[in-house]
Amino acid sequence: MNVDAKRSIEQDIAHHVHPQTNLRQHAEKGPTMITHGKGVFIYDSEGREIIDGFSGLGCVSLGYHNERLAEAAMRQMNTLPFAPTFYNRSHPRVAELGERLIGMAPGGMNRVMFQCSGSEANDTAIKLIWYANTARGEPQRRKIIGRIRGYHGNTIATVSLSGQPHMHAKFGLPLPEFKHTELPNYYRFHIDGESEEEFSARMARSFEELVLREGPETVAAFFAEPAISGGGALMPPKGYWEEMQAVIRKYGITFLVDEVVCGFGRTGNMWGAETWGLKPDMVSCAKALSAAFFPISALMFKDELYAEMMRNSDEVGVFGHGYTYAGHPVGAAVSLQALDIYDEIDLIGHVRKVSKRFLERCDAMQDHPLVAEVRGVGLFCGFELMRDAKARIPFDPAWKVGALVQDFAHDRGLYLRAIGDRISFMPPLIINEEEIDLATERFKGALDDAWAVVKNKI
Ligand SMILES: Cc1ncc(COP(=O)(O)O)c(C=O)c1O
Repeated sequence: MNVDAKRSIEQDIAHHVHPQTNLRQHAEKGPTMITHGKGVFIYDSEGREIIDGFSGLGCVSLGYHNERLAEAAMRQMNTLPFAPTFYNRSHPRVAELGERLIGMAPGGMNRVMFQCSGSEANDTAIKLIWYANTARGEPQRRKIIGRIRGYHGNTIATVSLSGQPHMHAKFGLPLPEFKHTELPNYYRFHIDGESEEEFSARMARSFEELVLREGPETVAAFFAEPAISGGGALMPPKGYWEEMQAVIRKYGITFLVDEVVCGFGRTGNMWGAETWGLKPDMVSCAKALSAAFFPISALMFKDELYAEMMRNSDEVGVFGHGYTYAGHPVGAAVSLQALDIYDEIDLIGHVRKVSKRFLERCDAMQDHPLVAEVRGVGLFCGFELMRDAKARIPFDPAWKVGALVQDFAHDRGLYLRAIGDRISFMPPLIINEEEIDLATERFKGALDDAWAVVKNKI
Protein backbone atom coordinates (compact mmCIF):
# COMPACT_ATOMS: atom_id res chain seq x y z
CA MET A 1 0.00 0.00 0.00
CA ASN A 2 1.45 3.40 -0.89
CA VAL A 3 1.72 6.28 1.59
CA ASP A 4 -1.25 8.17 0.10
CA ALA A 5 -3.55 5.17 0.49
CA LYS A 6 -2.44 4.70 4.10
CA ARG A 7 -3.14 8.38 4.75
CA SER A 8 -6.60 8.12 3.10
CA ILE A 9 -7.49 5.17 5.31
CA GLU A 10 -6.37 7.06 8.44
CA GLN A 11 -8.40 10.11 7.42
CA ASP A 12 -11.40 7.94 6.73
CA ILE A 13 -11.29 6.16 10.08
CA ALA A 14 -10.72 9.42 11.94
CA HIS A 15 -13.63 11.45 10.53
CA HIS A 16 -15.82 9.82 7.92
CA VAL A 17 -19.02 8.21 9.23
CA HIS A 18 -20.20 5.53 6.80
CA PRO A 19 -23.80 4.73 5.92
CA GLN A 20 -25.06 1.14 6.26
CA THR A 21 -21.86 0.04 7.98
CA ASN A 22 -20.99 -1.70 11.24
CA LEU A 23 -19.36 1.29 12.91
CA ARG A 24 -17.24 -0.66 15.41
CA GLN A 25 -15.91 -2.94 12.72
CA HIS A 26 -15.10 0.08 10.57
CA ALA A 27 -13.22 1.76 13.40
CA GLU A 28 -11.19 -1.41 13.92
CA LYS A 29 -10.68 -2.63 10.35
CA GLY A 30 -10.99 0.53 8.29
CA PRO A 31 -12.41 0.77 4.78
CA THR A 32 -11.69 -1.06 1.57
CA MET A 33 -10.30 1.95 -0.27
CA ILE A 34 -11.31 1.85 -3.93
CA THR A 35 -8.95 3.97 -5.98
CA HIS A 36 -10.15 3.59 -9.56
CA GLY A 37 -12.18 1.50 -11.96
CA LYS A 38 -12.34 0.40 -15.57
CA GLY A 39 -15.04 -1.63 -17.30
CA VAL A 40 -16.47 -4.09 -14.77
CA PHE A 41 -13.33 -3.94 -12.60
CA ILE A 42 -12.56 -1.88 -9.54
CA TYR A 43 -9.11 -1.54 -7.98
CA ASP A 44 -8.33 -1.12 -4.31
CA SER A 45 -5.44 0.52 -2.53
CA GLU A 46 -3.73 -2.86 -2.12
CA GLY A 47 -3.58 -3.07 -5.92
CA ARG A 48 -6.22 -5.80 -6.11
CA GLU A 49 -8.41 -6.08 -9.20
CA ILE A 50 -11.98 -6.90 -8.25
CA ILE A 51 -14.91 -7.69 -10.55
CA ASP A 52 -17.81 -5.62 -9.35
CA GLY A 53 -20.56 -8.20 -9.12
CA PHE A 54 -22.87 -5.68 -7.48
CA SER A 55 -22.52 -2.76 -9.93
CA GLY A 56 -21.51 -0.39 -7.13
CA LEU A 57 -24.96 -0.43 -5.55
CA GLY A 58 -26.85 -1.83 -8.50
CA CYS A 59 -26.20 1.36 -10.43
CA VAL A 60 -23.01 1.31 -12.54
CA SER A 61 -24.70 0.03 -15.68
CA LEU A 62 -21.91 1.04 -18.08
CA GLY A 63 -19.03 0.14 -15.81
CA TYR A 64 -16.40 2.44 -14.45
CA HIS A 65 -15.05 4.25 -17.46
CA ASN A 66 -16.88 6.12 -20.17
CA GLU A 67 -15.40 9.06 -21.99
CA ARG A 68 -18.66 10.15 -23.54
CA LEU A 69 -20.31 10.50 -20.15
CA ALA A 70 -17.28 12.36 -18.80
CA GLU A 71 -17.28 14.70 -21.82
CA ALA A 72 -21.04 15.30 -21.55
CA ALA A 73 -20.53 16.33 -17.91
CA MET A 74 -17.57 18.54 -18.78
CA ARG A 75 -19.41 20.23 -21.69
CA GLN A 76 -22.38 20.97 -19.47
CA MET A 77 -20.19 22.22 -16.63
CA ASN A 78 -18.55 24.62 -19.07
CA THR A 79 -21.90 25.80 -20.48
CA LEU A 80 -24.30 25.96 -17.56
CA PRO A 81 -23.12 24.19 -14.41
CA PHE A 82 -26.25 24.99 -12.42
CA ALA A 83 -29.73 26.32 -13.00
CA PRO A 84 -32.64 26.13 -10.59
CA THR A 85 -35.89 24.58 -11.72
CA PHE A 86 -37.84 26.52 -9.05
CA TYR A 87 -39.93 29.61 -9.86
CA ASN A 88 -40.77 28.76 -13.50
CA ARG A 89 -37.12 28.53 -14.48
CA SER A 90 -35.76 25.78 -16.65
CA HIS A 91 -32.91 24.83 -18.99
CA PRO A 92 -32.85 22.89 -22.25
CA ARG A 93 -31.27 19.66 -21.01
CA VAL A 94 -33.85 19.03 -18.29
CA ALA A 95 -36.75 19.76 -20.66
CA GLU A 96 -35.26 17.32 -23.19
CA LEU A 97 -34.68 14.63 -20.55
CA GLY A 98 -38.29 14.97 -19.36
CA GLU A 99 -39.61 14.42 -22.87
CA ARG A 100 -37.24 11.51 -23.43
CA LEU A 101 -38.21 9.73 -20.22
CA ILE A 102 -41.92 10.19 -20.73
CA GLY A 103 -41.49 8.80 -24.25
CA MET A 104 -40.02 5.59 -22.90
CA ALA A 105 -41.85 5.20 -19.55
CA PRO A 106 -44.04 2.19 -18.84
CA GLY A 107 -47.77 2.59 -18.28
CA GLY A 108 -48.63 5.88 -20.03
CA MET A 109 -46.92 8.43 -17.80
CA ASN A 110 -47.25 12.11 -18.73
CA ARG A 111 -45.36 14.09 -16.09
CA VAL A 112 -41.93 13.93 -14.53
CA MET A 113 -40.20 15.48 -11.52
CA PHE A 114 -36.47 15.27 -10.92
CA GLN A 115 -34.52 14.77 -7.72
CA CYS A 116 -31.04 13.53 -6.82
CA SER A 117 -31.71 10.06 -5.40
CA GLY A 118 -34.11 7.16 -5.37
CA SER A 119 -35.06 8.05 -1.81
CA GLU A 120 -36.03 11.56 -2.84
CA ALA A 121 -38.05 10.29 -5.80
CA ASN A 122 -40.05 7.94 -3.59
CA ASP A 123 -40.36 10.51 -0.82
CA THR A 124 -41.70 12.98 -3.37
CA ALA A 125 -44.16 10.34 -4.57
CA ILE A 126 -45.51 9.88 -1.04
CA LYS A 127 -45.97 13.64 -0.71
CA LEU A 128 -47.69 13.91 -4.10
CA ILE A 129 -50.07 11.06 -3.26
CA TRP A 130 -51.04 12.76 0.00
CA TYR A 131 -51.28 16.12 -1.75
CA ALA A 132 -53.55 14.77 -4.50
CA ASN A 133 -55.74 12.93 -2.00
CA THR A 134 -56.25 16.17 -0.12
CA ALA A 135 -57.34 17.85 -3.37
CA ARG A 136 -59.72 14.96 -4.07
CA GLY A 137 -61.38 15.43 -0.70
CA GLU A 138 -59.91 12.19 0.69
CA PRO A 139 -57.35 13.50 3.20
CA GLN A 140 -57.79 10.36 5.32
CA ARG A 141 -56.26 8.23 2.56
CA ARG A 142 -52.73 8.38 3.92
CA LYS A 143 -51.59 4.84 4.57
CA ILE A 144 -48.87 3.55 2.31
CA ILE A 145 -48.16 -0.17 2.05
CA GLY A 146 -44.77 -1.64 1.23
CA ARG A 147 -43.44 -5.16 1.72
CA ILE A 148 -41.41 -6.87 4.42
CA ARG A 149 -37.78 -6.64 3.19
CA GLY A 150 -38.79 -4.20 0.44
CA TYR A 151 -36.49 -1.22 0.06
CA HIS A 152 -37.39 2.25 -1.14
CA GLY A 153 -34.87 4.57 0.47
CA ASN A 154 -33.67 6.19 3.65
CA THR A 155 -35.58 9.39 4.22
CA ILE A 156 -37.89 9.19 7.24
CA ALA A 157 -40.87 8.33 5.03
CA THR A 158 -39.17 5.99 2.56
CA VAL A 159 -37.38 4.03 5.25
CA SER A 160 -40.71 3.71 7.06
CA LEU A 161 -42.13 2.28 3.86
CA SER A 162 -39.16 -0.08 3.49
CA GLY A 163 -39.51 -3.35 5.37
CA GLN A 164 -35.99 -3.41 6.79
CA PRO A 165 -36.05 -3.90 10.59
CA HIS A 166 -32.38 -2.94 11.05
CA MET A 167 -33.12 0.45 9.49
CA HIS A 168 -36.04 1.04 11.86
CA ALA A 169 -34.41 -0.16 15.07
CA LYS A 170 -33.46 2.64 17.49
CA PHE A 171 -34.79 5.32 15.13
CA GLY A 172 -38.33 5.04 16.49
CA LEU A 173 -39.55 4.06 13.01
CA PRO A 174 -41.57 3.18 11.00
CA LEU A 175 -43.99 6.10 11.13
CA PRO A 176 -47.54 4.90 11.86
CA GLU A 177 -48.95 5.48 8.35
CA PHE A 178 -46.64 2.87 6.81
CA LYS A 179 -47.65 -0.80 6.69
CA HIS A 180 -45.98 -3.89 5.31
CA THR A 181 -47.34 -6.92 3.55
CA GLU A 182 -45.63 -10.27 3.13
CA LEU A 183 -42.33 -11.06 1.45
CA PRO A 184 -43.04 -13.25 -1.58
CA ASN A 185 -40.15 -15.65 -1.07
CA TYR A 186 -41.74 -18.83 -2.43
CA TYR A 187 -38.85 -21.15 -1.69
CA ARG A 188 -38.57 -20.05 1.91
CA PHE A 189 -42.19 -19.58 2.89
CA HIS A 190 -44.34 -21.93 0.83
CA ILE A 191 -46.32 -24.56 2.67
CA ASP A 192 -45.31 -28.13 1.72
CA GLY A 193 -47.20 -29.10 -1.42
CA GLU A 194 -48.23 -25.51 -2.25
CA SER A 195 -47.56 -24.51 -5.89
CA GLU A 196 -46.03 -21.18 -6.80
CA GLU A 197 -49.37 -19.96 -8.12
CA GLU A 198 -51.13 -21.00 -4.91
CA PHE A 199 -48.46 -19.29 -2.87
CA SER A 200 -48.90 -16.10 -4.95
CA ALA A 201 -52.66 -16.21 -4.41
CA ARG A 202 -52.03 -16.56 -0.66
CA MET A 203 -49.69 -13.52 -0.74
CA ALA A 204 -52.42 -11.50 -2.48
CA ARG A 205 -55.06 -12.66 0.03
CA SER A 206 -52.80 -11.60 2.86
CA PHE A 207 -52.34 -8.18 1.18
CA GLU A 208 -56.11 -7.83 0.77
CA GLU A 209 -56.65 -8.75 4.42
CA LEU A 210 -54.19 -6.03 5.43
CA VAL A 211 -56.07 -3.48 3.28
CA LEU A 212 -59.38 -4.54 4.83
CA ARG A 213 -57.97 -4.47 8.37
CA GLU A 214 -56.62 -0.95 7.86
CA GLY A 215 -59.78 0.18 6.06
CA PRO A 216 -59.58 0.58 2.26
CA GLU A 217 -60.74 4.20 2.55
CA THR A 218 -57.50 4.96 4.45
CA VAL A 219 -55.11 3.13 2.10
CA ALA A 220 -53.49 5.50 -0.39
CA ALA A 221 -50.83 3.51 -2.17
CA PHE A 222 -48.80 0.38 -2.60
CA PHE A 223 -45.11 0.71 -3.44
CA ALA A 224 -43.10 -2.20 -4.83
CA GLU A 225 -39.96 -3.05 -6.72
CA PRO A 226 -40.73 -5.37 -9.65
CA ALA A 227 -38.12 -7.75 -8.16
CA ILE A 228 -36.92 -7.09 -4.63
CA SER A 229 -33.32 -5.87 -4.69
CA GLY A 230 -32.09 -4.61 -1.29
CA GLY A 231 -34.15 -7.33 0.42
CA GLY A 232 -32.05 -10.04 -1.25
CA ALA A 233 -32.37 -10.14 -5.06
CA LEU A 234 -35.69 -11.93 -4.93
CA MET A 235 -37.62 -12.62 -8.14
CA PRO A 236 -41.44 -12.66 -7.92
CA PRO A 237 -43.04 -16.12 -7.94
CA LYS A 238 -45.30 -17.19 -10.81
CA GLY A 239 -48.64 -15.40 -10.85
CA TYR A 240 -47.64 -13.01 -8.08
CA TRP A 241 -48.06 -9.75 -9.95
CA GLU A 242 -51.37 -10.74 -11.58
CA GLU A 243 -52.82 -11.57 -8.16
CA MET A 244 -51.42 -8.49 -6.42
CA GLN A 245 -52.55 -6.11 -9.17
CA ALA A 246 -56.08 -7.49 -8.96
CA VAL A 247 -56.21 -6.40 -5.30
CA ILE A 248 -54.61 -3.03 -6.10
CA ARG A 249 -57.30 -2.36 -8.74
CA LYS A 250 -60.16 -3.66 -6.61
CA TYR A 251 -59.54 -1.03 -3.91
CA GLY A 252 -58.43 1.85 -6.17
CA ILE A 253 -54.99 1.91 -4.58
CA THR A 254 -52.30 4.01 -6.29
CA PHE A 255 -49.53 1.70 -7.50
CA LEU A 256 -45.99 3.04 -7.53
CA VAL A 257 -43.48 0.81 -9.27
CA ASP A 258 -40.00 1.47 -7.95
CA GLU A 259 -37.67 0.98 -10.92
CA VAL A 260 -34.63 2.38 -9.11
CA VAL A 261 -32.76 -0.92 -9.58
CA CYS A 262 -34.74 -2.74 -12.28
CA GLY A 263 -35.02 0.27 -14.61
CA PHE A 264 -32.83 0.67 -17.73
CA GLY A 265 -32.19 -2.94 -18.61
CA ARG A 266 -31.33 -4.90 -15.46
CA THR A 267 -34.03 -7.54 -16.08
CA GLY A 268 -33.50 -7.79 -19.85
CA ASN A 269 -36.19 -5.20 -20.66
CA MET A 270 -36.03 -1.45 -20.28
CA TRP A 271 -38.26 -1.73 -17.19
CA GLY A 272 -38.99 -4.40 -14.63
CA ALA A 273 -42.65 -3.45 -15.22
CA GLU A 274 -42.33 -4.88 -18.75
CA THR A 275 -40.70 -8.08 -17.52
CA TRP A 276 -43.59 -8.84 -15.17
CA GLY A 277 -46.53 -7.05 -16.82
CA LEU A 278 -46.99 -4.32 -14.22
CA LYS A 279 -49.44 -1.45 -14.75
CA PRO A 280 -48.14 1.38 -12.60
CA ASP A 281 -49.78 4.69 -11.76
CA MET A 282 -46.39 6.14 -10.84
CA VAL A 283 -42.81 5.13 -11.58
CA SER A 284 -39.61 6.10 -9.80
CA CYS A 285 -36.15 5.60 -11.28
CA ALA A 286 -32.58 6.64 -10.51
CA LYS A 287 -29.21 4.82 -10.50
CA ALA A 288 -28.74 3.68 -14.15
CA LEU A 289 -30.62 6.77 -15.36
CA SER A 290 -27.20 8.44 -15.40
CA ALA A 291 -25.24 5.15 -15.34
CA ALA A 292 -24.45 6.37 -11.78
CA PHE A 293 -22.06 9.01 -13.11
CA PHE A 294 -24.17 11.74 -11.52
CA PRO A 295 -26.79 11.64 -8.75
CA ILE A 296 -30.18 12.09 -10.41
CA SER A 297 -33.60 10.47 -10.09
CA ALA A 298 -36.98 10.87 -11.75
CA LEU A 299 -40.53 10.37 -10.59
CA MET A 300 -43.10 9.91 -13.34
CA PHE A 301 -46.87 9.98 -13.05
CA LYS A 302 -50.06 10.59 -14.97
CA ASP A 303 -52.07 13.67 -15.88
CA GLU A 304 -54.86 12.69 -13.46
CA LEU A 305 -52.55 13.19 -10.49
CA TYR A 306 -51.09 16.32 -12.05
CA ALA A 307 -54.60 17.80 -12.35
CA GLU A 308 -55.05 17.43 -8.58
CA MET A 309 -51.66 19.05 -7.98
CA MET A 310 -52.79 21.93 -10.19
CA ARG A 311 -55.92 22.42 -8.07
CA ASN A 312 -53.86 22.64 -4.86
CA SER A 313 -51.36 24.96 -6.53
CA ASP A 314 -54.24 27.24 -7.60
CA GLU A 315 -55.57 27.27 -4.07
CA VAL A 316 -52.28 27.74 -2.19
CA GLY A 317 -50.63 29.87 -4.85
CA VAL A 318 -47.70 27.54 -5.40
CA PHE A 319 -46.82 23.85 -5.60
CA GLY A 320 -44.78 23.95 -2.41
CA HIS A 321 -42.20 21.22 -2.92
CA GLY A 322 -38.74 20.86 -4.45
CA TYR A 323 -35.01 20.43 -3.99
CA THR A 324 -32.24 22.87 -4.97
CA TYR A 325 -30.57 20.36 -7.26
CA ALA A 326 -33.76 19.03 -8.88
CA GLY A 327 -33.11 18.65 -12.61
CA HIS A 328 -29.45 19.59 -12.28
CA PRO A 329 -28.09 20.48 -15.74
CA VAL A 330 -25.05 18.22 -15.42
CA GLY A 331 -27.18 15.30 -14.25
CA ALA A 332 -29.61 15.87 -17.11
CA ALA A 333 -26.80 16.09 -19.70
CA VAL A 334 -25.14 12.93 -18.38
CA SER A 335 -28.47 11.06 -18.32
CA LEU A 336 -29.27 12.06 -21.91
CA GLN A 337 -25.86 10.81 -22.94
CA ALA A 338 -26.36 7.55 -21.01
CA LEU A 339 -29.72 6.99 -22.74
CA ASP A 340 -28.07 7.66 -26.14
CA ILE A 341 -25.37 5.12 -25.34
CA TYR A 342 -27.95 2.53 -24.22
CA ASP A 343 -29.66 2.88 -27.62
CA GLU A 344 -26.49 2.92 -29.67
CA ILE A 345 -24.93 -0.16 -28.10
CA ASP A 346 -28.33 -1.89 -27.86
CA LEU A 347 -27.81 -2.44 -24.16
CA ILE A 348 -31.05 -4.38 -23.77
CA GLY A 349 -30.05 -6.72 -26.62
CA HIS A 350 -26.66 -7.20 -24.97
CA VAL A 351 -28.21 -7.99 -21.58
CA ARG A 352 -30.52 -10.56 -23.18
CA LYS A 353 -27.63 -12.17 -25.01
CA VAL A 354 -25.19 -12.46 -22.09
CA SER A 355 -27.97 -13.25 -19.63
CA LYS A 356 -28.15 -16.79 -21.04
CA ARG A 357 -24.53 -17.46 -20.05
CA PHE A 358 -24.95 -15.59 -16.75
CA LEU A 359 -28.02 -17.56 -15.67
CA GLU A 360 -26.55 -20.86 -16.88
CA ARG A 361 -23.43 -20.27 -14.78
CA CYS A 362 -25.52 -19.18 -11.80
CA ASP A 363 -27.84 -22.20 -12.10
CA ALA A 364 -24.79 -24.48 -12.15
CA MET A 365 -24.14 -23.40 -8.53
CA GLN A 366 -27.54 -24.73 -7.46
CA ASP A 367 -25.93 -28.08 -6.60
CA HIS A 368 -23.40 -26.57 -4.22
CA PRO A 369 -23.92 -27.83 -0.65
CA LEU A 370 -24.39 -24.25 0.62
CA VAL A 371 -26.93 -23.24 -2.00
CA ALA A 372 -30.64 -23.95 -1.69
CA GLU A 373 -32.12 -21.88 -4.50
CA VAL A 374 -30.91 -19.83 -7.44
CA ARG A 375 -33.30 -17.55 -9.29
CA GLY A 376 -32.57 -14.76 -11.69
CA VAL A 377 -33.54 -12.83 -14.76
CA GLY A 378 -31.48 -10.63 -17.08
CA LEU A 379 -28.31 -9.78 -15.14
CA PHE A 380 -29.93 -10.01 -11.74
CA CYS A 381 -29.67 -13.16 -9.65
CA GLY A 382 -30.39 -14.13 -6.06
CA PHE A 383 -28.96 -17.11 -4.17
CA GLU A 384 -30.53 -18.54 -1.03
CA LEU A 385 -28.04 -20.28 1.27
CA MET A 386 -29.45 -22.95 3.58
CA ARG A 387 -28.20 -25.58 5.94
CA ASP A 388 -30.65 -28.12 4.54
CA ALA A 389 -32.08 -27.15 1.16
CA LYS A 390 -34.68 -29.90 1.04
CA ALA A 391 -36.02 -29.52 4.56
CA ARG A 392 -35.56 -25.71 4.27
CA ILE A 393 -33.56 -25.41 7.47
CA PRO A 394 -31.62 -22.14 7.60
CA PHE A 395 -28.14 -21.70 9.02
CA ASP A 396 -27.73 -20.32 12.50
CA PRO A 397 -27.65 -16.54 11.81
CA ALA A 398 -24.67 -16.28 14.19
CA TRP A 399 -22.58 -18.24 11.67
CA LYS A 400 -23.02 -15.37 9.19
CA VAL A 401 -22.70 -17.70 6.23
CA GLY A 402 -23.72 -15.04 3.70
CA ALA A 403 -21.06 -12.65 4.98
CA LEU A 404 -18.51 -15.45 4.85
CA VAL A 405 -19.24 -16.04 1.15
CA GLN A 406 -19.09 -12.31 0.52
CA ASP A 407 -15.67 -12.04 2.23
CA PHE A 408 -14.20 -15.06 0.46
CA ALA A 409 -15.48 -13.73 -2.86
CA HIS A 410 -13.76 -10.44 -2.15
CA ASP A 411 -10.50 -12.26 -1.40
CA ARG A 412 -10.83 -13.99 -4.76
CA GLY A 413 -11.51 -10.72 -6.58
CA LEU A 414 -15.29 -10.58 -6.82
CA TYR A 415 -17.57 -8.13 -5.10
CA LEU A 416 -20.91 -9.69 -4.14
CA ARG A 417 -23.48 -8.52 -1.64
CA ALA A 418 -24.76 -10.71 1.18
CA ILE A 419 -28.15 -9.82 2.63
CA GLY A 420 -28.37 -12.19 5.57
CA ASP A 421 -27.99 -15.59 3.93
CA ARG A 422 -29.09 -14.39 0.52
CA ILE A 423 -26.50 -13.32 -2.03
CA SER A 424 -27.20 -10.70 -4.64
CA PHE A 425 -25.25 -10.93 -7.89
CA MET A 426 -25.84 -8.12 -10.39
CA PRO A 427 -22.81 -7.13 -12.45
CA PRO A 428 -22.61 -4.03 -14.68
CA LEU A 429 -24.81 -4.44 -17.74
CA ILE A 430 -21.84 -4.19 -20.12
CA ILE A 431 -20.25 -7.35 -18.72
CA ASN A 432 -19.14 -9.80 -21.45
CA GLU A 433 -19.19 -13.59 -21.49
CA GLU A 434 -15.53 -14.08 -20.52
CA GLU A 435 -16.01 -11.76 -17.56
CA ILE A 436 -19.14 -13.69 -16.59
CA ASP A 437 -17.10 -16.90 -16.64
CA LEU A 438 -14.39 -15.32 -14.52
CA ALA A 439 -16.88 -13.85 -12.04
CA THR A 440 -18.82 -17.10 -11.64
CA GLU A 441 -15.59 -19.11 -11.25
CA ARG A 442 -14.62 -16.79 -8.40
CA PHE A 443 -18.12 -17.05 -6.95
CA LYS A 444 -17.93 -20.86 -7.01
CA GLY A 445 -14.48 -20.71 -5.39
CA ALA A 446 -15.88 -18.49 -2.61
CA LEU A 447 -18.71 -20.97 -1.99
CA ASP A 448 -16.11 -23.75 -1.70
CA ASP A 449 -14.03 -21.66 0.72
CA ALA A 450 -17.07 -20.93 2.86
CA TRP A 451 -18.19 -24.57 2.76
CA ALA A 452 -14.77 -25.66 4.05
CA VAL A 453 -15.45 -23.54 7.16
CA VAL A 454 -19.17 -24.24 7.54
CA LYS A 455 -19.12 -28.03 7.12
CA ASN A 456 -17.08 -28.36 10.31
CA LYS A 457 -19.87 -26.68 12.26
CA ILE A 458 -22.69 -28.87 11.01
C1 LIG B 1 -35.42 -0.22 -5.14
C2 LIG B 1 -34.77 0.97 -4.52
N1 LIG B 1 -35.48 2.09 -4.33
C3 LIG B 1 -34.94 3.18 -3.79
C4 LIG B 1 -33.63 3.21 -3.39
C5 LIG B 1 -33.05 4.43 -2.77
O1 LIG B 1 -32.21 5.07 -3.67
P1 LIG B 1 -31.06 6.06 -3.14
O2 LIG B 1 -30.08 5.26 -2.38
O3 LIG B 1 -30.53 6.66 -4.42
O4 LIG B 1 -31.75 7.08 -2.31
C6 LIG B 1 -32.83 2.07 -3.58
C7 LIG B 1 -31.43 2.07 -3.19
O5 LIG B 1 -30.71 1.11 -3.30
C8 LIG B 1 -33.41 0.91 -4.14
O6 LIG B 1 -32.72 -0.22 -4.28
